Amino acid sequence: MRHKIIIAIDGYSSCGKSTLAKELAAKLGYQYIDSGAMYRAITLYILRNNIDIKETGEVMDALANIHLNFHLNESTNKSEIFLNDENVEHQIRDMIVAEKVSDVAAIREVRAFATAQQKKLGKKKGIVMDGRDIGTTVFPDAELKIFMTADPAVRVKRRFEELYAVNPSITLEEVKHNLELRDYIDSNRDVSPLRQAEDAIVLDNSGLTREEQLEKVLGWVRERSSQLTES
Ligand code: DC
Repeated sequence: MRHKIIIAIDGYSSCGKSTLAKELAAKLGYQYIDSGAMYRAITLYILRNNIDIKETGEVMDALANIHLNFHLNESTNKSEIFLNDENVEHQIRDMIVAEKVSDVAAIREVRAFATAQQKKLGKKKGIVMDGRDIGTTVFPDAELKIFMTADPAVRVKRRFEELYAVNPSITLEEVKHNLELRDYIDSNRDVSPLRQAEDAIVLDNSGLTREEQLEKVLGWVRERSSQLTES
């Protein structure tokens, strides 16, 4: 696999995009970028500073004060997000952020801000990025695009188990409601809505183990890389 490529992974909330992206990046020696973490960190800033997201001027001023960086955590081998030099990787997973993030991510100025940084990160290739618009807007020329889906009940159960581990008062109903609402807002916003790119390969992982899923996708990566080597 000589050619470093860009791998774009999109799909609904809690389909296991980040699990796959992380494992792929580790296996290939690529960088993994969680684009959702950027929207979550911006949302955290907005919540902390009581920004009125209906006021474009306030949002623009906030964006001018936001600096986002990813740093690799050597012990987990995962890139963690820093908001103005503070590691917010854990805070951005809170339900309070999840409840607001889709509204923030629908704002044109917020998307322009995040997309510009994401494009820069892909300059050197050798990157796996997951999100909602990576194959359509951020990297329309990505060599491999994957659109992930999974049975909604499987997705709710997965996300519930993740959140319950840190917050035992959370209910299955709350998680279900949040996922449905986010998928609706993410798919119906005006700017870069969640869509399957025409040239994306669909991966339904409802009945796949992590190992099976990884093997399948590594096969696609090998295929794409060898096509590039031949051309
Ligand atoms: O992947 P995630 O659940 O952490 O993403 C959080 C939210 O960010 C999601 O509800 C929609 C938004 N998002 C987006 O609009 N575009 C992306 N490329 C990634 C995430």
